[in-house]
Amino acid sequence: MWLGVDYYPEHWPEERWPADAKLMKEAGLTVVRLAEFAWSRLEPEEGKYDFAWLDRAIDVLAGHGIKVVLSTPTAAPPAWVIQRHPDILPEDYTRTPKSFGIRRHYCFNNEHYHEHSKGIAGAMAGHYCGNPAVIGWQTDNELGCHDTTRCYCKNCAAAFRRWLRARYGSLADLNEAWGTVFWSQEYNEWEQIPLPWKSVESQMAHNPSLLLDFYRFSSDSVVAFQKMQIDILRDLCPRHFITHNLMGLFDQVDYFDLAADLDFVSWDNYPNYSESSPHWTGMSHDVMRGLRACNFWVMEQQSGAVGWNTFGSTPRPGLIRLWTYQAIAHGADAVLYFRWRTSRFGTEQFWHGILDHHGRPGRRYDEVKQIGAELAKHSHEWIDCCPRNEIAFVLSYQQGWAFHVQPQHSAMSYWHELYRLYEPLREFGAGVDFISPEADFSRYKLIVAPLLFLMDPALARRLKTYVEKGGVLVGTFRSGVKDSNNVAADLPLPGLLADIFGISIIEYDSMKPGLSNSVVVDETHLRTTARIWADVIEPGTASVLARYTGDFYAGKGAVTVNTLGSGRAYYIGTALEPEFYAEFFKAILDQCAIATFDSLPEGVEASVRCNDGARIVFLVNPFREPAPVTIDGEYVSLLDEKTVGPRVTLPGYGVMVLKEIVK
Ligand code: GAL
Ligand code: ZN
Repeated sequence: MWLGVDYYPEHWPEERWPADAKLMKEAGLTVVRLAEFAWSRLEPEEGKYDFAWLDRAIDVLAGHGIKVVLSTPTAAPPAWVIQRHPDILPEDYTRTPKSFGIRRHYCFNNEHYHEHSKGIAGAMAGHYCGNPAVIGWQTDNELGCHDTTRCYCKNCAAAFRRWLRARYGSLADLNEAWGTVFWSQEYNEWEQIPLPWKSVESQMAHNPSLLLDFYRFSSDSVVAFQKMQIDILRDLCPRHFITHNLMGLFDQVDYFDLAADLDFVSWDNYPNYSESSPHWTGMSHDVMRGLRACNFWVMEQQSGAVGWNTFGSTPRPGLIRLWTYQAIAHGADAVLYFRWRTSRFGTEQFWHGILDHHGRPGRRYDEVKQIGAELAKHSHEWIDCCPRNEIAFVLSYQQGWAFHVQPQHSAMSYWHELYRLYEPLREFGAGVDFISPEADFSRYKLIVAPLLFLMDPALARRLKTYVEKGGVLVGTFRSGVKDSNNVAADLPLPGLLADIFGISIIEYDSMKPGLSNSVVVDETHLRTTARIWADVIEPGTASVLARYTGDFYAGKGAVTVNTLGSGRAYYIGTALEPEFYAEFFKAILDQCAIATFDSLPEGVEASVRCNDGARIVFLVNPFREPAPVTIDGEYVSLLDEKTVGPRVTLPGYGVMVLKEIVK
């Protein structure tokens, strides 16, 4: 596997480059990413390219056996580009242009910017396609970062109207789909359609159908912008891979669409936790792996204290190593640390890398060197293995957008509701995939599909078939509420899903912050607290598993299960406490015979990579205190080359990589 760094040779005197390359090599690093923001050095004036310095930097690295991933530098348009075409600057929703001065100051739909981007991408690709040290490309950098996905300029308004024409065909159909009769918003010319610009109320008071389509359009614009670069790179550099550094749980761009054009996904991981649960980071890794259903790279891995003008704590000894193995455990086949050496200037001069400003190797370098030695020795054991899971979460960016527009409750967040159901499964060490609503459900024993707010007949049918054929489905409140135009369904809830869950929701209650109800599980008498939302459920063919005990709907169903064909569909009508989900999922995991790790200490992560021949277990302890773990069977602990099991103790911030001994 690859271990590497993000390196900016243009920030350092050329005489220093050989010393950097030597230190990298000694630490076991095998790959660097270069050129990400180097446009003003690569094309100092329009059409005048200077690749000589980058050629020399690549030569120095290649001389030490280090391979190179090049980035197109389009996340940082230089001053001359903006001076020549000021209309490239994006506008905010008050229609004020955002100034040159940071980065990402460009509109995805600007044709001048398209031309400049194609120019630099094409020139770089032409120059580097034959360089044997170059292995692949990263497009741009963190597309959409700094809230730049959505631009409100004239160009975008025109492009949005074209996009709507293609989607709806006629204005009559658009008016019907959006319900524009409400507040006299009916359009009789395409040019009348606004972007969600600043109006008399907050932005989210615009027509929800317009907002959702604007989010879709903006995401499509980012995907198309990237595709324009990918077409050039593929054409000129057919031997090279193409990836992009995504941002984990960022949700303004439909990452399934963005990833579809890549060879594989990379992402930038800045966990900065010291004493808290690692499962948020684990979920980010799982989401990133899910976008292409294959192993991924971490293109930027935190390796020091991070922040711009103020910054957080320095990673405690062991944490860089822990983050690295956690990434590998979830399917990373490369980890590159951000950044090699902390910059002396610019906005990020306190976003620390492996080396501090002075450039001398210290504690963090030594830790990376230890990782380098370990991977050189052992990574062949797992490199052909992937996480292979029997549980999938249905992830939908569009559902997230619909909730962004109308969250229903001040404490409702799409990612938090996914996490509420993800964490208890990971506390059992059960592996989880994230799949798109279009994916094949049939290979999973358990599908968890929270908050299916927008529903269309095709998805409802596919979920039904999945259950009928023996699948187990878990759904939640706020499902089947709307159609895909973001208009409320005219059916009793959960709308098109009613026959799958075998229920009817006779009332619902958005609970004021601070208010709660109590829920008791029929079978175990577990009493737990319900917050945020309460669906009052009338079972049809379903049976009630847990019910409310308070308020006017005391005794009514809160959680149900329906048998359909040879499968089962669970419906959770409210947001409950962790102890409920632990008990609820334990029973399902047992019934489905899904492998778990019993008695994992809270917050300790267990993950598995396997292939037909090998099963490798990764254990990660994010706490300062040692953690005892019991595992079934006997294992070789690869990193310390000992035979262990069934009881092992992870040191504080410790990791173990265990290879099962098959007898
Ligand atoms: C990432 C970005 C890097 C660097 C880092 C620290 O978002 O890709 O270029 O800016 O964060 O802010
Ligand atoms: Zn724009």
